[in-house]
Amino acid sequence: MEFNQLIRDIQDFPKEGILFKDITPLLGSPKALVAAADRLAAVSPEGISIDKVIGIEARGFILGSMIAERLEAGFVPVRKKGKLPFTTKQRQYGLEYGTDVLEIHTDAIQPGDHVLVHDDVLATGGTAKAVCELVEELGGIVVQCNFIMELTFLDGGSKLKAPIQSLLQY
Ligand code: PRP
Repeated sequence: MEFNQLIRDIQDFPKEGILFKDITPLLGSPKALVAAADRLAAVSPEGISIDKVIGIEARGFILGSMIAERLEAGFVPVRKKGKLPFTTKQRQYGLEYGTDVLEIHTDAIQPGDHVLVHDDVLATGGTAKAVCELVEELGGIVVQCNFIMELTFLDGGSKLKAPIQSLLQY
């Protein structure tokens, strides 16, 4: 499956100077969508049982829930500040300019849970690192972080302790 042919480059989105990688053609292809979820659900080491899949707002929700279904795991949303209704743990993380806050429900992960963290893109790694730290604070074990694409020139992977898997590298 040629996933890279289904990623559309959008120049100057959302701001001038940014080349945005648009995943909607991949999501819109019935074959690619299924193949992407199948590939990302092939967690290594093989046979390890995943209790929870985390999807990071917003584009991480889409394949994250499909991966959870394949692994027969629960799905846990990590959301931007103020969106989750129950008690939360928060983590500040760095953006290109300034900071933002991510939240997880305090009862979303049980101590000892094996957790897979999914998002659409690994860029600087600040987002995924904050999510891994939230999981660990709740006593979970991050078994893998996986992504549709990884911007390898930003070296986000070096911020993450868990093994990484991605369908595409740029
Ligand atoms: C994008 C992307 C990842 C994050 C990666 O999300 O979906 O979550 O940036 O960047 P990083 O590795 O440098 O932290 P964005 O903040 O644009 O939010 P959205 O998915 O809600 O649009």
